[in-house]
Amino acid sequence: MTEITLRRPDDMHLHLRDGAMLTAVLPETARHFARAIVMPNLVPPVVTGAEALAYRDRILAALPDGMSFEPLMTLYLTEATDPEDVAAAAASGLVKSVKLYPAGATTNSQSGVRDFDKVRGVLERMAGIGLPLCVHGEVTDPAVDIFDREAVFIDRVLDPIRRATPGLRVVMEHITTKDGVDYARAQGDDLAATITTHHLILNRNHILAGGIRPHYYCLPVAKREHHRLALRAAATSGETRFFLGTDSAPHPDHLKEHACGCAGCFTATNTMALLAHVFEEENALGRLEGFTSEHGAAFYRLPRNEGRLTLAKRDHPARWPAKIGDEAGPVTVFDPGFPVHWHVSD
Ligand code: DOR
Ligand code: ZN
Repeated sequence: MTEITLRRPDDMHLHLRDGAMLTAVLPETARHFARAIVMPNLVPPVVTGAEALAYRDRILAALPDGMSFEPLMTLYLTEATDPEDVAAAAASGLVKSVKLYPAGATTNSQSGVRDFDKVRGVLERMAGIGLPLCVHGEVTDPAVDIFDREAVFIDRVLDPIRRATPGLRVVMEHITTKDGVDYARAQGDDLAATITTHHLILNRNHILAGGIRPHYYCLPVAKREHHRLALRAAATSGETRFFLGTDSAPHPDHLKEHACGCAGCFTATNTMALLAHVFEEENALGRLEGFTSEHGAAFYRLPRNEGRLTLAKRDHPARWPAKIGDEAGPVTVFDPGFPVHWHVSD
């Protein structure tokens, strides 16, 4: 197969930031994706419905003429979140999910949740109206090894929350382990999981062997090879509970190439070409459309996109800019480290 046409994809986990960075990165996503679940971890975070509405307006104002894109807004869950504000923002159609960051787990998560009992009222209200909770699934206990934090989170936090809140719809965001895949598979249809492009490509050796590669550092950090293989099997399986959330997360180079570098891989520019490469390697090109364009929409109870995106395999490798966003960055575009022959046809 040398050409494949997909329903236009959705990115069900994306960081767009704000200001000059938003202006720089938004076209990279809007060029290929119809919609994205937009993460609320700005500084300060997007906590209320009014803040989400204002952020949505800033995103739409930053969209270049001639491009179309629908931001699907999320609220940042804090211990002070008002359940009625969440319910109203969902009822208006503005907000599609609420994001749970355990406090201290990742970039701009300081306002996240420390005491899960304090958010019980919000979670119960969400279960009542079917509004999904997007979960950054890592414990923050310094005694837990960073490579174990996802698996421990499932046992200590995620499973107890789900048992205590029957009917709560949950998206395990950016799963990175076989433990995450296995847990997701064992649940009913009130649970789904997103998988990033970079976690299908990287294992921990790519970050650390032969020199430290800051542009491969993200959270949750890439794990051992057998975990990467489990993620590949899940993404390409055709199972509807797994779908794309790139977690494309821009940071300026000077904060990535730093003594204490920021977490995040910027994959918006080349995600679709990389996914075609990965799915072809797994003999699963026929399942790419489900992963990028159908399963996520179904879980979020959204109509499928009507537009199309064509990918073509060519003899010459695809090229993309090494960096984008001069004013806001520069931001390094994810380099998979191998040639990619799939091109998005314009
Ligand atoms: O690598 C990451 N970057 N993981 C996250 O959870 C947050 C994100 C960011 O906002 O930079
Ligand atoms: Zn993220």
